Amino acid sequence: MSGENWYKLGTVDDFKDPSLREIKINDKLTIALSFCDEKFGAISNICNHLGGPLGKGKLSEDYVVCPWHNWKFHRITGFGEPGFEDDRVPRYRLKIEKNDLYIDLNPTTTRNKLPHPSHPISREPVRTSGPIRVVGISTTIMDKQNPRYSTSEKLLKIALEYAKNDLNCNTMLISLNDLNFKSCEGYYSKSAQACTWPCSITQMDSNDQLDKVYEALVHWADVIILSTPIRWGAASSLYYKMAERLNCIQNQITVRNKILIKNKIASFIITGGQDNVQDVAGHMLGFFAELGFLFPQFPFIAHSRGWSAEDMENNISDVENSSDLKEGAKDLARRSVEMARIIIASDLVKQKIVLSGRKARKIEMKK
Ligand code: FES
Repeated sequence: MSGENWYKLGTVDDFKDPSLREIKINDKLTIALSFCDEKFGAISNICNHLGGPLGKGKLSEDYVVCPWHNWKFHRITGFGEPGFEDDRVPRYRLKIEKNDLYIDLNPTTTRNKLPHPSHPISREPVRTSGPIRVVGISTTIMDKQNPRYSTSEKLLKIALEYAKNDLNCNTMLISLNDLNFKSCEGYYSKSAQACTWPCSITQMDSNDQLDKVYEALVHWADVIILSTPIRWGAASSLYYKMAERLNCIQNQITVRNKILIKNKIASFIITGGQDNVQDVAGHMLGFFAELGFLFPQFPFIAHSRGWSAEDMENNISDVENSSDLKEGAKDLARRSVEMARIIIASDLVKQKIVLSGRKARKIEMKK
């Protein structure tokens, strides 16, 4: 048959186990070869979604499941799973001669990618005119039915009230405790390209509520004031649960040289019965700097009564009765908002940056 280009892969027995593998034929072609029910199949190794390596996935009946975000393609025809048959990857013919396995390097079908609507959060961040917008994010964990007094959240609310009433800002409070959202599933650990914007979890699970944080941070807010308690010398576990999911914001800089956070200010409120304020603040400053946030002078306020202070009820009354801390919260809001006004007026951060030595592997969707 014309147009055939048979290539010997090797002896048949060499390709029966494992049941799915990737085979690099040359610089332009890598295939996902499968063997199941005494039948070989060969399709392109490149997933239609974001180029994940199909041959490194797993088999689910006759479908190859992409290791990155679980899209499925028939291991022989290359068609997408039922309902998505038109979303297909190229298929390659195979033949066996004298116990050798051959592949026709010319595919019998072409790649076809169905259009998938982009997630609303993936729209270009553009600041709409209007008052400075301040979002407070409380990372305190508590029983939703029986909420307790949170010193960090209390100071955060004071800061937001002040921003609204005295600084004429629009404000919003997000309590992570009220949101149902999944932990990061570590797509980035598979490949920088597998960590998407918005987060792959957000794109695949409409019930995941971290979209509210993404929307606020990337699109709505000019200022974020984040509050956390100190838990064994670190920020709250809810903070870290959120922070891991924010990797997708930073990762856009790595994989696309795209800065999602521009001309935005972050500041922090940190309280705890025992100490380690500087460590918690240091982590947050480093992390939010990597996301693209800028900081006001003296970007956090904090309160701690020291290592031996186990009388926690006094910690609460300390904060409740401290006019210094309340004034400090207001002043943190003021410094943050004033900084935001200056930064926005000057449009300080432009679109392009020179990467600081970071580069992710590019995925090219050829065959
Ligand atoms: S499912 Fe394959 S790259 Fe996302």
